[in-house]
Amino acid sequence: MEESTKSRRRTALVTGASAGIGEAFAAHLAAQGFDLVLTSRRLDVLQSLAERLQSEHQIDCRVIPADLTDPESPRRIFYELARDEIEIDVLVNNAGLGLQETLLTHDWREIAAFMEIMAVAWLHLSKLALPGMLDRGYGRIANVASLAAFAPEPPGSLYSGIKAQMVTTSRGLRRECLGTGVHVTAVCPGYTHTEFHSRLGIPELPNKMPRWMWQNADAVVSEAWRACERNRPVVVTGKVNKVFRLLLALMPDGLAEKCMPKSISRIRNRGRD
Ligand SMILES: NC(=O)c1ccc[n+]([C@@H]2O[C@H](COP(=O)([O-])OP(=O)(O)OC[C@H]3O[C@@H](n4cnc5c(N)ncnc54)[C@H](OP(=O)(O)O)[C@@H]3O)[C@@H](O)[C@H]2O)c1
Repeated sequence: MEESTKSRRRTALVTGASAGIGEAFAAHLAAQGFDLVLTSRRLDVLQSLAERLQSEHQIDCRVIPADLTDPESPRRIFYELARDEIEIDVLVNNAGLGLQETLLTHDWREIAAFMEIMAVAWLHLSKLALPGMLDRGYGRIANVASLAAFAPEPPGSLYSGIKAQMVTTSRGLRRECLGTGVHVTAVCPGYTHTEFHSRLGIPELPNKMPRWMWQNADAVVSEAWRACERNRPVVVTGKVNKVFRLLLALMPDGLAEKCMPKSISRIRNRGRD
C-alpha cells in the first residue's frame, strides 16, 4: 500500500457483492486486509457474507442495501458513507445482469432499469468516489465488463454494446487519471460460474457447454485485481477468453456475426433444462 493512507485501513466498495464475481471480489479484498462496504438488494445475504468475512479476516465490513436501477441509489450510498466518515479507496463496479428479451420485445421500463444499472450507476458511483481518491492520491476502480464487449451483438440484444461502452469509457477514465495514483481497469470475463445464467432463466447452460469455456469467479477476481494493481486498461481473464478475444479482433465483422447465436431465444433454449 502507498504511504498517504497507511495510518488507516483502506476501504473497498463492492457492488453486486451478494453473489458471483462480486462476492469473490469481496472475499479477495478482505483477505488482502481491506475494510469493506458491500451493496446489492439482498440485505440478508450481504449480512451473512459480512459476518463471515469480518470473522475470517478481522476487517470491518458494512452493508448498504441498494437497488442500482434506482437513479438515486449511488447518491444515497455515498451520503451514508459521508455521514459515517467512510472514505472509499477501491470501487468495484460489478453489479449487473443479462436481459431476457430484446429491444423490440421488452417493456421500456425494464429496458430503462437495465440501462440504469448497466450503463449509468457505475459512472455515477465513479464520479462520487473519484474526488476523494484523487485528493488522497490513491484509488482503484475495477469495472466488471465482459468478453461480450468485443463480440457482435446477438439480434436485438443490448448487453454487448453496454459492456463495450463500459470498456471504452473505462479506458478514457484511466487515461484522465494517469499519474494521480488512481488506477482504472475494465475487467472482461467470459463464461463464469455464478448466479448470472440462472437469473437469466438458463440454469443449465454450464452443463450444456464445454467445461474449458468456463472459469470460476475466484480465478476471474485474482487476475482482475492483479491487473488493476498494475493499472492495466483492460484485462480479459483466462487463457481461453484471451484466445477468443484475439480471434474476434482478427475476424471480419460478417464472419464474427455468423459465429454468434442467431437470436436471444436460441441462447435461452440452449441453456434450459
Ligand atoms: N457470469 C458470467 O458468465 C459473466 C460473464 C461476463 C461478465 N459478467 C458480469 O459480471 C458481473 C457480475 O455478474 P455475476 O456473473 O457475478 O452475476 P450474479 O451471480 O447474478 O451476481 C449479480 C450481482 O448483481 C447484483 N444485482 C443485480 N441486480 C441488481 C440491482 N438492481 N441493484 C443492485 N444490485 C443488483 C446481485 O445482487 P442482488 O440480487 O442481491 O441485488 C448480485 O450480487 C455483471 O456485471 C455481469 O454482466 C458475468
